[in-house]
Amino acid sequence: MKLWGGRFTKPTHRWVEEFNASISFDQELAEEDIQGSIAHVTMLGACGILSPEEAGQIIKGLESILARVRSGEVAFSVEHEDIHMNIEKILTDEIGPVGGKLHTGRSRNDQVALDLHLYVRKQTIELVRLLVQLEQVLLEKAEQHIDTILPGYTHLQRAQPVRLAHHLLAYVSMFERDIDRLKDSFKRVNLCPLGAGAIAGTTFPIDRKMVANQLGFDGIYDNSMDAVSDRDFLVEFHSICSLIMVHLSRLSEELILWASEEFNYIALDDAFCTGSSMMPQKKNPDIPELVRGKTGRVFGHLMAMLTTLKALPLTYNKDLQEDKEGLFDTVRTLTGSLSLMVPMIQSMKVNQKKMRENAEFGFANATDLADYLVNKGMPFRQAHEVVGKLVLYCIREDKYLTDLSLSEFRSFAGQINEDIYDKIALE
Ligand code: ARG
Repeated sequence: MKLWGGRFTKPTHRWVEEFNASISFDQELAEEDIQGSIAHVTMLGACGILSPEEAGQIIKGLESILARVRSGEVAFSVEHEDIHMNIEKILTDEIGPVGGKLHTGRSRNDQVALDLHLYVRKQTIELVRLLVQLEQVLLEKAEQHIDTILPGYTHLQRAQPVRLAHHLLAYVSMFERDIDRLKDSFKRVNLCPLGAGAIAGTTFPIDRKMVANQLGFDGIYDNSMDAVSDRDFLVEFHSICSLIMVHLSRLSEELILWASEEFNYIALDDAFCTGSSMMPQKKNPDIPELVRGKTGRVFGHLMAMLTTLKALPLTYNKDLQEDKEGLFDTVRTLTGSLSLMVPMIQSMKVNQKKMRENAEFGFANATDLADYLVNKGMPFRQAHEVVGKLVLYCIREDKYLTDLSLSEFRSFAGQINEDIYDKIALE
């Protein structure tokens, strides 16, 4: 017998149950669902809508289910469609008809919205925690490598020498912005939709603020129709997660390049690499490759969520059940990627010698030479031209700027003196 079976004359088609059900994935929300129900029933008791005994019995029943959910002892069934009805069914089986009073003044529409707010709130806090950890290892590495010089690149061509610390701190700045974005979105996540009912509230004299306070929300939704149909906070979450993945993917790409024999700037620890089934010499950077690769699925979930919402009439529509699998997958992808990135960066070895060689033996000092000429009074555009010619000369002669004799320098610009060697050296 379905919990909503009253107005039906026949069972659902045998394929409908499977197609319609969300329990296979929304059981991820079991804890949030029970916490929300406990707050709801506590309020129903406090407002005199349920007697203190009834409220007490239901809360006890829910707490016992929560403990068993946590230890993995509860089995859910597809027959009861989703996590909300599964838990209500288990409760009623265990404590009897009083369990049927749990859903007084509530709909699954505000209930599922509540569960999602609680879930995204928890994951937002977890992501900030992981991002702070990642920033910490980047800061540690930066601190160890204040004097490690490497070429900075534009167009992936050597541009100007930079400190490795400078390079790593660029990522810290990106992750700082991500943390800011998560904090800002928290304002919209940490609002309580419960009390909106199915769409138009409830006839019972409930106390929405009491529920919100009990669950640690900063406020309640203003409009009940918005409360049950709003998934903007999920779009924001996916979009912030997408940007975090962009940053992780760019970092991963650099680690992959730097770990190649061509660059040879870093060595990733063996614990974060894998071998080849055929080529015995291989040590592959699978983890950063996977982080880079998984970025696509996170973008995909953002696009799916936007598409689900587009042109959806108010208020709740079953389409919204499609909001969950992508969300859970994004959370798993982000927490997995961040959790691995932290120890992988911590354990990587930096080849300072190779970085320095590449910074020295190249033309990364060309801008310094141009600036030197500007300091001697030459207009920058002319200095640029002169140094460009000098570089071309070096390429033809198979030399670097530091190899040139003073007379070679002077044949391009008479202003150049002995002090040039200091100016174009790395230090
Ligand atoms: N399983 C549903 C979901 O995830 C819960 C809400 C169902 N509400 C309804 N009126 N059918 O969206």
